[in-house]
Amino acid sequence: MGDQLLIKNAAQVVTPVGHTALKGAAMKDIKIYENASVLIEDGRITAVGDETEWAKTVPADKQIDATGKTVLPGFVDSHTHFVFGGYRADEFLWRMEGMTYMEIMERGGGINNTMKATREASGEELIDHSMDILKKMLAFGITTVEGKSGYGMDHDTELKQLEVMKELEKRQPVEIVRTFLGAHSIPPEYKGRNEEFLEFLIKEVMPDVKKADLAQFCDIFCEKGVFSIEESRKFLQQAKDMGFDLKIHADEIVTLGGAELGAELGCTSADHLLHASDEGIKALANSDTVATLLPTTAFCLKEPFAPARKMIDAGCAVALATDFNPGSGFTNSVPLMIALGVIYMGMTAEEAITALTLNGAAAVGRADKIGSIEEGKQADLVILQYPSYKFLPYHTGVNIVETVIKKGKVVHQA
Ligand code: NIG
Ligand code: FE
Repeated sequence: MGDQLLIKNAAQVVTPVGHTALKGAAMKDIKIYENASVLIEDGRITAVGDETEWAKTVPADKQIDATGKTVLPGFVDSHTHFVFGGYRADEFLWRMEGMTYMEIMERGGGINNTMKATREASGEELIDHSMDILKKMLAFGITTVEGKSGYGMDHDTELKQLEVMKELEKRQPVEIVRTFLGAHSIPPEYKGRNEEFLEFLIKEVMPDVKKADLAQFCDIFCEKGVFSIEESRKFLQQAKDMGFDLKIHADEIVTLGGAELGAELGCTSADHLLHASDEGIKALANSDTVATLLPTTAFCLKEPFAPARKMIDAGCAVALATDFNPGSGFTNSVPLMIALGVIYMGMTAEEAITALTLNGAAAVGRADKIGSIEEGKQADLVILQYPSYKFLPYHTGVNIVETVIKKGKVVHQA
């Protein structure tokens, strides 16, 4: 018998079911086991149910009594920019005074501001800073996080950011999915020369990213004033040909057709989508591309929220993620994200859970391994302090995660 862990007597064990994203109406079909246990062996879930006999075979010190508590799959934060140098608190307050995100960017603030600080930071400085953030993520129940480069936009800093994420995975329990986002903005040295910058990324940076296995995904900021639909299509197609899986920052500030492009190219996810058109929503619903929505970013930018209800009703697979970054949304608060999803975006509590677990896992291409509590899946779990998943939106904005389990080991206890 391998290394065991038993979570017993949980008021509820709640999980979506499946190995792929759940679309449309299926998103609310979560399974609820009452008075249930979860048996874990060697980091994997081996059984779920109301079997009391299991307690006899598992050593007492390997049993967690979850009486009055709720067990859920670990949360998957499938879109973040958590490795960066410096902060942009001034910009946040300028936005509150009426300046727009794009106006700040055009004046040399925004992404290029963080770029300067990230280029200057050493790898160890970025590691120290990111360790603290990962600890906070873990306390919110995040057991897998996607992290993007994109604050270097030169060869060495892009690789540095990705190497930092690779190293961080060795030093702490949160699993990290790496994305190359060199095409995040146009750095000053390429101002007005988008095509040449994208050529540079394709020819001189991405082969080295690939060679060192530094990123699974390639992403681009497809936006008016940044990269056009045509530039994004060509760039992502080239990335796909090099063996990268794809993501796209789509229709965040204006309606451009990023949602349609994401579906057309078979992107694993199309993200933001605040201004996705009806055609874009239809295209996503008819594809395997996950629609990743980032409510805290809309909130911090004072923009209208992405139309989650409309998307789910149209048959899309929706994921929720934090987009944690130093600019458009400097928060990784999962409770705030859930509150916004349920209170303002018309999602049910059940849909929000699927969006944060199985669909988040699908958005990073790992729904076969994580994102649900099922036999054979990796034992990534959270235990909530309360007897029902309904407390997630109900105890509004409050972190109710008590225990976090990663690969069968307790890695955080509130
Ligand atoms: O997803 N929109 C582009 N990228 C980030 C923001 C990054 C930043 O402002 O530093 C986003 O919102
Ligand atoms: Fe982002």
